[in-house]
Amino acid sequence: MQYIPPNNLRGHDLAPLLAARDLEADWFNTNDFDVHATSNVARYTYYETSKQIPFHYRAAVPTLPQLHEWIDTLVADAREAQEERGGPIASVFHGPSLLLLGQTGVGKTHEAYGAARALAVSGVFAQWQVTTAADLYAALRPRHGIDSEAEFRKYRDARLLLVDDLGAERKPTEFTEEINFRLINHRYEHHLPTLMTSNVDPKELVNRLGDRVISRLAEMCQRVPMKGNDRRRNAA
Ligand SMILES: Nc1ncnc2c1ncn2[C@@H]1O[C@H](COP(=O)(O)OP(=O)(O)OP(=O)(O)O)[C@@H](O)[C@H]1O
Ligand SMILES: [Mg+2]
Repeated sequence: MQYIPPNNLRGHDLAPLLAARDLEADWFNTNDFDVHATSNVARYTYYETSKQIPFHYRAAVPTLPQLHEWIDTLVADAREAQEERGGPIASVFHGPSLLLLGQTGVGKTHEAYGAARALAVSGVFAQWQVTTAADLYAALRPRHGIDSEAEFRKYRDARLLLVDDLGAERKPTEFTEEINFRLINHRYEHHLPTLMTSNVDPKELVNRLGDRVISRLAEMCQRVPMKGNDRRRNAA
């Protein structure tokens, strides 16, 4: 926490996020010069999170009750850990993971970014790393001038990680299998909260990710199936 971001973040459509957590806009906009005040933690966290949200999902609001419950758990765990340690702010570090499953266009990515925004305004510090699985593999491909292990650790050790479109590659390679296993295994062992989405049918997902990854996901994640039509086609 280095600075207090501006209040009245216009155009960010914060009202539904604050209302869902019973928070007032006045609270979020308080001019309190204590950087550790929960409203300033919320403002800072929201400001940092918003930089990671793609333009298309900038106003996303989560609708699934399971996502709200997941956020409540992360917030409660963060506050409990703060009480135990007596730190100046509550911060998300450990927690359960969640896997959104559903066909193309049902709204998985929308829900995921909505969840990141909703968690951000809660008043606990939450730091995200976001990627699609395909972008992750591309970023980690060994190439000149890149320390792929350092890059990998950025995702492996992220406080909160969003991996969108897990299992999207039709033909897993040894490289993608190794990344999937090392990433999921580490986050499983360290109980690091990870939000994942996949549009692959659960039976096919076993073939794409392998038994050992699926076994860990089964224990660490709540699976949330999403049903419905392709919203993009409906909109068109
Ligand atoms: N609850 C919602 N309210 C309004 N718009 C929504 C909602 N959910 C999704 N959308 C819109 O519907 C479209 C599809 O949503 P999204 O991109 O989240 O789908 P997806 O399930 O991630 O699809 P894919 O599997 O292809 O990645 C997007 O334009 C998104 O903004
Ligand atoms: Mg998507």
